[in-house]
Amino acid sequence: MADELTPETPEEEQPKKKHKQRKNGLYPGVSEELAASMRTGWADTELRGLEPIAQAAHTAARRSALSRRFPGERLVVPAGRLKTRSNDTEYPFRASTEYAYLTGDQTENGVLVLEPAGETGHHATVYLLPRSDRENGEFWLSGSGELWVGRRHSLTEAEQLLGIPAKDVRKLPEELAEAEGPVRSVRGHDSVIETALTDKVTKERDEELRVYLSEARAVKDAFEIGELQKAVDSTVRGFEDVVKVLDKAEATSERYIEGTFFLRARVEGNDVGYGSICAAGPHACTLHWVRNDGDVRSGDLLLLDAGVETHSLYTADVTRTLPISGTYTDIQRKIYDAVYASQEAGIAAVKPGAKFRDFHDASQHVLAEKLVEWGLLEGPVERVLELGLQRRWTLHGTGHMLGMDVHDCAAARTEAYVDGTLEPGMCLTVEPGLYFQADDLTVPAEYRGIGVRIEDDILVTEDGNRNLSAGLPRASDEIEAWMARLKG
Ligand code: GLY
Ligand code: MN
Ligand code: MN
Repeated sequence: MADELTPETPEEEQPKKKHKQRKNGLYPGVSEELAASMRTGWADTELRGLEPIAQAAHTAARRSALSRRFPGERLVVPAGRLKTRSNDTEYPFRASTEYAYLTGDQTENGVLVLEPAGETGHHATVYLLPRSDRENGEFWLSGSGELWVGRRHSLTEAEQLLGIPAKDVRKLPEELAEAEGPVRSVRGHDSVIETALTDKVTKERDEELRVYLSEARAVKDAFEIGELQKAVDSTVRGFEDVVKVLDKAEATSERYIEGTFFLRARVEGNDVGYGSICAAGPHACTLHWVRNDGDVRSGDLLLLDAGVETHSLYTADVTRTLPISGTYTDIQRKIYDAVYASQEAGIAAVKPGAKFRDFHDASQHVLAEKLVEWGLLEGPVERVLELGLQRRWTLHGTGHMLGMDVHDCAAARTEAYVDGTLEPGMCLTVEPGLYFQADDLTVPAEYRGIGVRIEDDILVTEDGNRNLSAGLPRASDEIEAWMARLKG
């Protein structure tokens, strides 16, 4: 039997009707009378006099810069489509970063097209699904109709909000197929658009567009910095929420922590910016522990790596390693304080003009010193660093660009990112760690199963840096005092 919450099934699959129905030629099983009823009697809900969204001026500047980089070429940037989770259910939609960055819009199936105009400029058009058609019944009979999935903006409303002319996206594949001249597109989001462009684009030229859009995002504008701060502020509240329910997590599992943080992310933002890592005890040594199904035990550490993504899709990326009991043991404190010292050295190396690698080198230097001091590695420190021996326990790079993607600007060229120079407006994480696996026989038993990471979101400013996540304590004694206050 059909679930009530599915669009109407075709007539042949329905039980025999008591009353004879006349076919209306559009949807089987719908009488002319019902179809006529559903066509009429609806109020005009068009929204008028809408103000542009907060980032409209910024997205216009971003499109202008893109236009200057690719004169005379048609540029196609899709938002993406819904992805099937199972049968007729879909994953929550998240627009492509490139599309949201250039439009401020996040509607599924949306496509931004910059069409060459004159020698240098472009005309931008955003292609969207218009309001559902009431004449043909799509709004209530199709699974993507507004009655099922919610009201969309009309094209006129979208134009007012985004500051970009809007057209019906259903006409776009045909328009693209007929378009003359060079085209570049952002791949991987919309198979319909990719099919329409098959003969017009090349992998190499599309990659140049992707690289440009990655590098363009490295320096954040004022709107973006405000959003990153909002993301971090919500994240701080999410961490506080978690501390307050640690007893409930102890009675259940790491999932209680994941769910608690997620509640904050969904209520204040769009989502979490990445799968929360809620790693209690030895799980902290698994870098991307997102199963979060383990026990939470007093006496162990909790490594919580989580970030709220704002409604405009900027994410925080913050880690704290907390003593579940509220107090670090001696060995936990020793390791924690070493990571803290390493992070302090890393943060101090974030400033305009510094090489991107400097903060990593500064952090690693401190960790190597500690490992030698503790007798886990044989000195001198310079030899350890040269051979990279500390990496058995430091495992990962010390940070990355942060923005709409948690690992932002990932397609940037090495010379523009890893080998590049820091500039005001860049935002990056500084996140050193030490991880002693539970089965690591090369360290004394007391180290085994302890993993510590401390991660903050650092904005490069004109004269140094600003720690956007300074709202969360970092030093071990400050963490303990903060936890005592929150646990009451
Ligand atoms: N949360 C992933 C990372 O810290 O890079
Ligand atoms: Mn990170
Ligand atoms: Mn992280």
